[in-house]
Amino acid sequence: MDALEAIRKRRSVRKFTGQAIPKADLETIVDAGRWAASGSNRQLWDFIVVTKRETIVEFVPAAPWIVQAGAVIALVLDPVTRWWVEDGAAAIQNMLLASTALGYGSCWVEGDALPREEQFKALLGVPPEKRLMALIPVGVPAEWPQREKKPLEQVIHWEKF
Ligand SMILES: Cc1cc2nc3c(=O)[nH]c(=O)nc-3n(C[C@H](O)[C@H](O)[C@H](O)COP(=O)(O)O)c2cc1C
Repeated sequence: MDALEAIRKRRSVRKFTGQAIPKADLETIVDAGRWAASGSNRQLWDFIVVTKRETIVEFVPAAPWIVQAGAVIALVLDPVTRWWVEDGAAAIQNMLLASTALGYGSCWVEGDALPREEQFKALLGVPPEKRLMALIPVGVPAEWPQREKKPLEQVIHWEKF
């Protein structure tokens, strides 16, 4: 699958079969994350790959459907750089696209994880000064949603707004 195809195919997948994901594929997905652009190339990110079922169930308060994911990647950023949110977003999008290209479903879980950040940081042993930005559940998809996007003509502007 080429990059443009993965970009168009990617959707937030929230139904998985529960199957495990080979370690090599999880490494490929995280590797895509670490190739992302970052402000001044600081790369102040860490990726925690969670595959143990007993840990994944602890994320249920953020997303009940997460229990069926094959793995959950937690993205940790060091907020010493003023670009940490942008850096994290770039890494997340790369991982979502890599998951899609490998045939897995994934989802950017941030809004529902943020209120439980301290709880999840303690669970994963994240140092207090770091931020746990998002959880990325990855799994063999049981369903691939077809959400529509605004048409190009509605959002593209040439030369001026
Ligand atoms: C910053 C951000 C935070 C998000 N947080 C959550 C979340 O907490 N839970 C969730 O299920 N989806 C979350 N999503 C996924 C969005 O709901 C999803 O991207 C949007 O509905 C568009 O659907 P699509 O990803 O299939 O194109 C988040 C997406 C972004 C970009």
